[in-house]
Amino acid sequence: MPTTVVDLRRFKDAGHRFVMLTCYDYQTACIFDEAGIPLIFIGDTLGIMVLGFDTTIPVTMDAMVHHCQAVCRGVRDALVIGDLPFGAYEVSAEQGLTNSIRLVKEGGVSVVKLEGPEFELVRAITSKGIPVMGHLGLTPQSVNATGGYKVQARTHEAADRLLSDAKELEAAGVCALVLEAVPTEVARRVTESLDVPTIGIGAGPHCDGQVLVSTEMLGLTSGPSPRFAKKYADLRSEIATAAKSFADEVATGAYPDHEHSYDWELR
Ligand code: KIV
Repeated sequence: MPTTVVDLRRFKDAGHRFVMLTCYDYQTACIFDEAGIPLIFIGDTLGIMVLGFDTTIPVTMDAMVHHCQAVCRGVRDALVIGDLPFGAYEVSAEQGLTNSIRLVKEGGVSVVKLEGPEFELVRAITSKGIPVMGHLGLTPQSVNATGGYKVQARTHEAADRLLSDAKELEAAGVCALVLEAVPTEVARRVTESLDVPTIGIGAGPHCDGQVLVSTEMLGLTSGPSPRFAKKYADLRSEIATAAKSFADEVATGAYPDHEHSYDWELR
């Protein structure tokens, strides 16, 4: 059964904890969708995880549309959410609306996500029938202003502000809210105060759902990852082993063998 935006509220009401995974390409989208992952998200972490940038800032609308299209071709049942990258909505609500329409119309996603307390923009987009997912706490598109990837809402004042922003985003019409890198108790307060589900990343266990960056979760990345980014596989070493095995077999004359001959057959 396809997941729709209406299911998000149902998941929360039923106490059903759900997941969202980032995804950037067709093959992975097929795998996640077949595995029954209900929410598949083309995040602007595309810039870091796939395109090799240091931050998400350089990601363009064209890149987002391109990868949204690839992911959507692989998804049958999951709800697909696309990220508005930095520069896609900072100028005006009209600019944000135009780019949201592009993500839906050209990219094929059903929901757009955007960072920060952008109340007017959320109203503008939702008023045109496009569901919006919010994102508060650590908002990586603001890394140049915040000076790094740090836990947010650590003081009483900052936690109160985050709660009030969350409520106002809900009033503006968001269908769900990502909470990134906020203290567990703050995430719990926000989750209990909203009717729409929260989806946590580094925000503790009390959120309604959890999201992970798939390339980290699958162990494809090298170098440091945030502490909460649990690895469920070690695909980096699996891929390296497979590539080396191929190279070794060619070097030793073991490839091609009889079983894997070049005579084309459907497997
Ligand atoms: O772009 C992204 O992948 C995100 C997740 C970290 C939620 O915003």
